[in-house]
Amino acid sequence: MADQPLLNTYGRLPIVFDHGHGPWLFDTDGQRYFDTFTGIAVCGLGHAHPAVAEAISRQAQRLLHCSNLFYTAEQQSLAKRLCELSGMDGAFFANSGAEANEAAIKLARLYGHQRNIKNPAIIVMERAFHGRTLATLTATGNRKVQAGFEPLVSGFVRAPYNDLAAIQSIANANPNVVAILLEPVQGEGGLSIASNEWLQGVRRICDEHRWLLMLDEVQTGNGRTGSYFAYQQTGVLPDVVTTAKGLGNGFPIGACLARGVAATTFQPGHHGSTFGGNPMACAAALAVLDVIERDNLIARARTLGARILGNLKSAFDGADYIRDIRGHGLMLGIELNEPCAELVPLAKMQGLLMNVTAEKVIRLLPALTLSDDEADYMVDQLVRVIKLYAGDDRMVPRPSIDA
Ligand SMILES: Cc1ncc(COP(=O)(O)O)c(C=O)c1O
Repeated sequence: MADQPLLNTYGRLPIVFDHGHGPWLFDTDGQRYFDTFTGIAVCGLGHAHPAVAEAISRQAQRLLHCSNLFYTAEQQSLAKRLCELSGMDGAFFANSGAEANEAAIKLARLYGHQRNIKNPAIIVMERAFHGRTLATLTATGNRKVQAGFEPLVSGFVRAPYNDLAAIQSIANANPNVVAILLEPVQGEGGLSIASNEWLQGVRRICDEHRWLLMLDEVQTGNGRTGSYFAYQQTGVLPDVVTTAKGLGNGFPIGACLARGVAATTFQPGHHGSTFGGNPMACAAALAVLDVIERDNLIARARTLGARILGNLKSAFDGADYIRDIRGHGLMLGIELNEPCAELVPLAKMQGLLMNVTAEKVIRLLPALTLSDDEADYMVDQLVRVIKLYAGDDRMVPRPSIDA
């Protein structure tokens, strides 16, 4: 597989996938794997969801694309549904999370210039992840993502996460700040969860200084944390929200939603995308929203998340190699004391697809459609593999389930 004509940007496992079904992926040899992170928080409804497949197929026979120089019913419906769900006033559609964040960053800069701030700055967080374009990798708080791509983009100020005093001191010292961009739960950064008090304090400082509060819900959005957007459990309404990943369940789409003054900042010519929000992507996203609503998946993310968290905590009770187990809905992290990237190939041999982030954190982003049995199977398998890895002899018997 190493001889494939692909640029060498990923450390891939040697598996060739052929098809999927719910939480399962099947390789070209027919071997099945349980997916604990759904293509990095993308296939929230599981793989090959029939309603999404049908919507894509129907739309492909009507209209794939016509450019943003015209309207389509699909784009209008999706913008309306997302605004109703989020409390925002308008949507810009892109093709990915990074592009949704680029739109937010440009919007904030434009907002600053409209306020006669010549060098507008955006506060971003340590250990944040916002994407791989030049502006979003600069906003990302991880040197590994940035190294080798200097010069980085100017206009970002870094602050520690969950630290209100740090934001206040930037506010006191820097008159160029126009916005703050943060994730309600840092996924790539190792599953750090913002406290409601911090977010409410950030909102207050934003209001005092006329900054835009911009939330990156690329990973947390679309029901994953147990509300459509994570901020809906915090008592805070942002000015700008970005999302992508689970919105299309695998069909590429991103959105930058804005309200109030932020929703009137862009004017024709300021920003654009050839493919963004084309009828195909919007039809897929509309089908995703229908299924989330029809199957009550937001409430399900809460109960499933609590079940998985509780089972993991009791399985690892007293395990000295585990530093912490935490979660917010179906975004969960098992933090080990030591770096544990070698768990990934070990889990693969056991038929389990696992993601490790921030070196020591096993990040779980399972499908919102798991049955209780599937969720319990996932936990049993994870516990087995982690105990095997840690040399913990209190092993659990191998569980089984039908695909
Ligand atoms: C919070 C967050 N923002 C932005 C991105 C970038 O999204 P994309 O890879 O679709 O550009 C990611 C991807 O992991 C993310 O987790």
